[in-house]
Amino acid sequence: MEKIITGTENMRIPFGDLKPQYFQLKKEIDGAVRQVIERGRFILGEEVEAFEKEFAEYCGCGYGIGVGSGTEAIHLALIALSIQPGDEVITVPNTAVPTVSAISFAGAIPKFVDINPDTYTIDVTKIESAITKKTKAIIPVHLYGQCADMDTILDISKKYNLAVIEDACQAHGAAYKGKKAGSMGNAGCFSFYPTKNLGAFGDGGMVVANDAAIAERLKLLRNYGQEKRYFHRIKGFNSRLDEIQAAILRVKLKCLDQWNTTRMEKAALYKRLLRDVSNIITPIEAPYSSHVYHLFVIRCEERDDLQGFLSEKGIGTLIHYPRPIHLQESYRDLKYEKGDLPAAEHCAETILSLPLYPEIKDSEIEFIAAAIKDFFCLNI
Ligand SMILES: Cc1ncc(COP(=O)(O)O)c(C=O)c1O
Repeated sequence: MEKIITGTENMRIPFGDLKPQYFQLKKEIDGAVRQVIERGRFILGEEVEAFEKEFAEYCGCGYGIGVGSGTEAIHLALIALSIQPGDEVITVPNTAVPTVSAISFAGAIPKFVDINPDTYTIDVTKIESAITKKTKAIIPVHLYGQCADMDTILDISKKYNLAVIEDACQAHGAAYKGKKAGSMGNAGCFSFYPTKNLGAFGDGGMVVANDAAIAERLKLLRNYGQEKRYFHRIKGFNSRLDEIQAAILRVKLKCLDQWNTTRMEKAALYKRLLRDVSNIITPIEAPYSSHVYHLFVIRCEERDDLQGFLSEKGIGTLIHYPRPIHLQESYRDLKYEKGDLPAAEHCAETILSLPLYPEIKDSEIEFIAAAIKDFFCLNI
């Protein structure tokens, strides 16, 4: 049967659009960037220092260390926490690949634990059975903007003496029982990739921590291991947030809470409009969490057809992520097989991310919801 959207004008709705945020803040951002250029200091200057302080405070942490990306934030945090080659690090298979590449590049071995299909975060009931003598750390991923069940994870980490590195790359401002994402483990890692809830105009990242010694090590690691110019205490990398990105992020940080609130309102509108569509599952908020909807991810068995249908209607969607890491070609050496992590595998086949950003119009969400209902031949 041909599916026709009735009663709505035709629109094109991209999956994301970064331009409105710039135009909202154009004057302030242009001024901040010009100031950096005129000052003539581009690496590890006053903007990075101020932003580190402001973002760490925002997260409720003592220290912030600006680095080159979220991937490098996780990589350097692993090294700062003394994870050694051959150590095992527990994480989930349904994440952006950089969570796992960071483990590999620290020389450690990723060990995957399946997910809770309601929240898409680590299934905390399965962590203990994955722990071996070699396990040294857990990286919970606060996926799509919702925190993992941190109290249980922290209890397990204490029992087995494991480090906890929060991958908060999708969860700027999210909270767990009132505590901000990134503030609960030994280190919290953030990405400022442009599409994130707090996004730069290029790559960027930060590690937040409460332990002065870890913060100190991270400062060395990101800057060639040098304590003062040309004197290198440890072997290090070049992974620094730059002054221009920090200046832009300082302007945008002031809007983060408002943007997150708007994301929550837009998510609530989607849920209201889709509540009668029994074929799809909309995001489930755990009672402990304040979800900041980096992504609005629905689930349905007819995912591929629905995605194609929405595309024909001019609606952009994406899949985060279509193939779990344990089944990726690049991780064949870990010797996982299809069926090993069934919840994550089933989610990968059925999830679909719908457009959600602070500037999306309610009328656009109404159009998308109507298209979904039309796909399932429901009365609009
Ligand atoms: C969950 C997660 N972890 C890590 C990263 C890596 O961040 P970046 O792209 O800044 O390296 C991302 C971003 O794509 C992410 O979404």
